[in-house]
Amino acid sequence: MNIADHFDFRAAQQCVRQVIARHPEPVRTLADIGCGDGTRTLDLLRGLGQQPRRVLWVDPSRVALDSLRANTTDLSGEQVYSPSRMQELTSATVGQFDCVLSLHSLYGTPHELHRCNEHLLDLLSPVGILVIELSSSESLLHRLQREVWRATHGTELPTGRSGEVADSLRRHGAVFSETRVVERLRVPLSARANHYDELTDPERAFLEWFNKGKPLDSSTGDALLHAVLNSATMDEDGLGLDSDVTILACRKP
Ligand SMILES: C[S@@+](CC[C@H](N)C(=O)[O-])C[C@H]1O[C@@H](n2cnc3c(N)ncnc32)[C@H](O)[C@@H]1O
Repeated sequence: MNIADHFDFRAAQQCVRQVIARHPEPVRTLADIGCGDGTRTLDLLRGLGQQPRRVLWVDPSRVALDSLRANTTDLSGEQVYSPSRMQELTSATVGQFDCVLSLHSLYGTPHELHRCNEHLLDLLSPVGILVIELSSSESLLHRLQREVWRATHGTELPTGRSGEVADSLRRHGAVFSETRVVERLRVPLSARANHYDELTDPERAFLEWFNKGKPLDSSTGDALLHAVLNSATMDEDGLGLDSDVTILACRKP
């Protein structure tokens, strides 16, 4: 089960759409870095008055790019697909894009994160805008996710944190604004509890879902877990949880 499939991204999508719409320059060229299957960006593109004349889709997953390719046939501009990591983009892409998107794709250690931000900023044309979306550092759910990852993998969750990303952008001299939106995460009822009445232990249902079927070590993130569950609501469909997302809109120094 993929956690991303259970997020309701509408509020974040609306915010990204507004950031692009308010940018005074037209988007003639766009790069989507870590595009995945492109669902969100395709939705944004179809809402634009005029399609960019060139879109660069970047993702190391060939499977994701293949499924994206099948959905871009109605787009009017040139579509370029790059099965690579952002760190591997060549100098031919430098300064080429009016809009660069990184929606939940900023990965790496703190060292790589700083370099990744540099790669993203390098892609921008002089008037371009970079939009980065990622979980807020303070999001309870994200903090719990990090604790669970640390306990099960012995390493840090390899995604950027909004606070670190903002610090790194400052160090690069980038000008940026920051918006926080609250997303809703729907946790479906577990396979073992098909009906609301049978879900006598929402905590266990959440843990089993969140930790891919394995019960959590009770010492892991206990206080955080309770804080997350205290913020949850429950109905016939399952649990509803708030998760904070940060959207950074940046321009080149
Ligand atoms: C959580 S998904 C987000 C996909 C899409 N942007 C969205 O918002 O639906 C993260 C994506 O980033 C890609 N990714 C991971 N590391 C990357 C890197 N170093 N450079 C570019 N993309 C990367 C993954 O393959 C994955 O498709």
